[in-house]
Amino acid sequence: MIASTIAKQESKRKAVSILRVVTILVVGFLCGFLQAQEIASDNLSQLIQHAKVESASEISAFQFNASTYASDTRNLPIGVFDSGIGGLTVFEAILGLDQFNNQTLQPQPDGKADFENEKFIYFGDQANMPYGNYAAAGKEDYLRELILKDTVFLLGNRFWKSSSNKQPQFNKPPVKAIVIACNTATAYGLEDVKLALQAWKIPVFVVGVVEAGARGVLESQGSADTSSSSVAVLATVGTCASNAYPRLIGSTFGAAGRRPPQIVQQGFVELAAAIEGDPQIASKGSISDFINRDIANLVEQHRKSGSTSPISTIILGCTHYPLVRSQILEAFDRLRSKEENGQKVYAQLISEKINIVDPAQLTAKELFRSLARNQLRSSATQTVKQTAKQTVDFYISVPNPNCASLQITNDGALDHNYKYSRMPGKLDVEDTVNVPMTSSVLPKTSLNLMQSRLPLVWKSFQASQQ
Ligand code: DGL
Repeated sequence: MIASTIAKQESKRKAVSILRVVTILVVGFLCGFLQAQEIASDNLSQLIQHAKVESASEISAFQFNASTYASDTRNLPIGVFDSGIGGLTVFEAILGLDQFNNQTLQPQPDGKADFENEKFIYFGDQANMPYGNYAAAGKEDYLRELILKDTVFLLGNRFWKSSSNKQPQFNKPPVKAIVIACNTATAYGLEDVKLALQAWKIPVFVVGVVEAGARGVLESQGSADTSSSSVAVLATVGTCASNAYPRLIGSTFGAAGRRPPQIVQQGFVELAAAIEGDPQIASKGSISDFINRDIANLVEQHRKSGSTSPISTIILGCTHYPLVRSQILEAFDRLRSKEENGQKVYAQLISEKINIVDPAQLTAKELFRSLARNQLRSSATQTVKQTAKQTVDFYISVPNPNCASLQITNDGALDHNYKYSRMPGKLDVEDTVNVPMTSSVLPKTSLNLMQSRLPLVWKSFQASQQ
């Protein structure tokens, strides 16, 4: 009797899990379908058409030469992009990854960097950042166009030696794979990039950080019951508005037959720009001021929701936030012990122990698996690599002084109103240009962060300057 009740409960549980997975697959399919419909109807299709040229040696802005991809691409570099320097936290994880055996490709560290024979191109679209604020300004279309332009830049050979040059150069190597090392860009552009790569029929794949983050939450929970704890997503306003994390956490837990945890999100408006050292933001407060304010808002929002499940996991859902990890934890600690009228108002809502999920390492692992699956791992030997002058090229976008419509601030950055009022579809306007990233184009704060927090990136960056 008891056995048959257990069997019934078990088959009911399985049926519920199957139903959940089917629902997720149908919803996923419909979302993909709707996104495909959307792409066909807006300016992005114009950019997709414009971007691919077959054989020109000197391509125009926002174009790449597709004939590159007719031959073996294994020894091309891997492209990694972000809206600025935040993606360097993901790049640090890529450079330092040793989770696989490089011979057998099995998930077993072998004491060698997993990407030891690979070359990379890192691009930060710093002139157009923060990406996180475009959606709130009603410019989601423009953001999606920027993300595709970043992709086209990585696929092409065109760059500018400096913004004062009158002509671009055409000897940047194209890439064989793309990592979107930016949560906001993944949330808004990953599907567009996948569809564009399909439309161009080139053997390049793309990996984004948000799916990796959602998987990180599942892994961080182990077999614990997640229904009585909450996960806090710390991300840009744009990433939160896209609902990408709650959606993907839901589908990841659903596929694993688990009940997803409660999720609380907080969009941080200024933090990424403050970490980049943006002088317009620095004048409003310190990095700690922004962190304390936004985390207080997040926890207060959680309290007001009436939830009793404490925050036990936080996702660093913006690539810049690992750089201020300890300040974020301090802000939670401070709130946990904060008293109002003799009462610790938030103590029950913040766990004593907080798991931190940083999507960077999982993204790096996904890159390794995808390279292996697509048989795109470099065939170069260590000896060839050592004779190469450098293995990483860094690029960054800067305002283009030769662009007639350009409006810039006294600091030489794009004017805020100009930045967020631009319209998509103007492929003859190149108001920013992509130049080699050097110490002179980076704010001192960014250089200090690289030097003090990202040792592998710093080493590569220094090598690229020689
Ligand atoms: N790097 C971006 C992210 O991970 C945020 C910075 C920005 O707003 O541009 O979402």
